[in-house]
Amino acid sequence: MTAKGIILAGGRGTRLHPGTHAVSKQLLPIFDKPLIYHPLTTLMLAGIRDILLISTPEHLPLFRALLGSGERWGLRIGYAEQERPKGLAEAFLIGEDFLDGRGCALALGDNIFYGAGLTGQLREAASVGDGAVVFAYQVADPRSFGIVELDRSGRPVSVEEKPERPKSDLAVTGLYFYGPDVVDIARDIRPSERGELEITAVNARYLAEGRLRVTRLPRGTAWLDTGTVEAMHEAGAFVRAVEQRQGLKIACPEEVAWRQGFISTDALKELASGIGNEYGAYLRRIASSEWG
Ligand code: DAU
Repeated sequence: MTAKGIILAGGRGTRLHPGTHAVSKQLLPIFDKPLIYHPLTTLMLAGIRDILLISTPEHLPLFRALLGSGERWGLRIGYAEQERPKGLAEAFLIGEDFLDGRGCALALGDNIFYGAGLTGQLREAASVGDGAVVFAYQVADPRSFGIVELDRSGRPVSVEEKPERPKSDLAVTGLYFYGPDVVDIARDIRPSERGELEITAVNARYLAEGRLRVTRLPRGTAWLDTGTVEAMHEAGAFVRAVEQRQGLKIACPEEVAWRQGFISTDALKELASGIGNEYGAYLRRIASSEWG
């Protein structure tokens, strides 16, 4: 287990109140499974098995109850608290001991990725030992995101957090790969005007040092937002449509663990036997499928 990953699943979720008054947003279901399964399986598809989940002190026990040690999926999942949402880059300071001088991927707990070729792109990003790799995705409303501007050869020339006058329509998605020095960089940046340690400030530093790489996600890839109740509903409808059409699940940790070779077919069958509904039936079906 070398590659490490952090999932940041804190925040107040105020935009989704009252739905998130007592429950973390990342535990709410997107159609048939909790939102947190999406960033979790995204990291797993990148080949990452050693994961730190960061959330609020109130919500952390709920994540533990859902995910446990991760052992049943061939993972090692640890937990850490973020007392207040002081910014995405604080994840590296909270995770310093966990990282133990290694590079890592950071996945925001509320981002959903789906598309052909994604696994290859993730694995490539995870194999970069130094510098930073981020993903860019064309969006209709660039004022709502971190925005990257690229030159003609695809090299980044600027990054800005939610600019009033965006220089491009390419959003930086909530999945970032960094070399070991990310902790030092995070320690060095200062809070923004809104008082947060911005991930965009970290990316700006890598850019200034000529060490930021940007991979564009093609239009065939879906990158879905879950920031509002409408977006949550749409994401659920998307997952439902794809799953029902194909008969395959999106972001199913048991399946991803099995396909990645983290667990055996017998272990998958054992997991399936403990789930007496359609989800368990699905796991049983894939475990004995002649198509694999
Ligand atoms: O989704 C991609 C975008 O994520 C990027 O394009 C932006 O550059 C980046 O700043 C971020 O923007 P958001 O406006 O989506 O960030 P938000 O503050 O909503 O935080 C994203 C998730 O992380 C959210 O589920 C809450 C959680 N969070 C946030 C903060 C600030 C934490 O767990 N801790 C925090 O301190």
